[in-house]
Amino acid sequence: MTSERFITFEGGEGVGKSTQADLLADTLKARGLDVVQTREPGGTPGAEAIRSLLLDTNLNWDTRAEALLFAAARSDHVTNLIGPALDRGQWVVCDRFIDSSRAYQAGGGEWSDDAVLSLHTLGSHALMPDITFLLQAPTAEIAERLYARDGDNADRIGGKPAEYHQRVADHFRHLAATDPERFVLVDASGTPEDVHMRVMRAMANFVGEGG
Ligand code: TYD
Repeated sequence: MTSERFITFEGGEGVGKSTQADLLADTLKARGLDVVQTREPGGTPGAEAIRSLLLDTNLNWDTRAEALLFAAARSDHVTNLIGPALDRGQWVVCDRFIDSSRAYQAGGGEWSDDAVLSLHTLGSHALMPDITFLLQAPTAEIAERLYARDGDNADRIGGKPAEYHQRVADHFRHLAATDPERFVLVDASGTPEDVHMRVMRAMANFVGEGG
């Protein structure tokens, strides 16, 4: 891919990815671009069905089954939504993608990064985003936002222990450090508009002011 039209938002829970994906999609649309906005796990009826299985706190998936389910959901999403949209020349803004599996299932869990990438090759032709915004905010600010959003009702993965989420955050940082061409680290503190300004400044570097 050299189109620079496939953009993902990544980061831990409650860091504001969905809000930033909304704001970016709106800004690109306001510039007259044809944008498909989507999310993972989910984005297609099949992948949304897998999402509800994955996040169900009554189901106790082991880490292997969990990684396979995320890869299966992504495969359906790439085959039926993301791939066709990119082929049609549309922009795709996606809330989480393969780097979430690398950070959560490899960094946080027991898989190696290579194993997660092999599943991605099998399931999704190893499709990679062109630009990935990694949102980062101080732990205390995130804890506050998360409590405001979920209270005591975190989903199955959000509810995992703090050490797990620390490993996930460390792995995200490691991924960004090893692929600085694709990753943009974004300070996610402050208002959504502050963060959006930072995202748009970085976009200008990738696609030019007019993009
Ligand atoms: P999401 O709805 O984006 O959660 P949040 O809004 O809290 O960030 O994602 C649901 C959960 O699934 C989240 O805890 C991250 C996890 N996840 C993985 O573990 N692996 C993956 O590949 C993806 C896409 C998400």
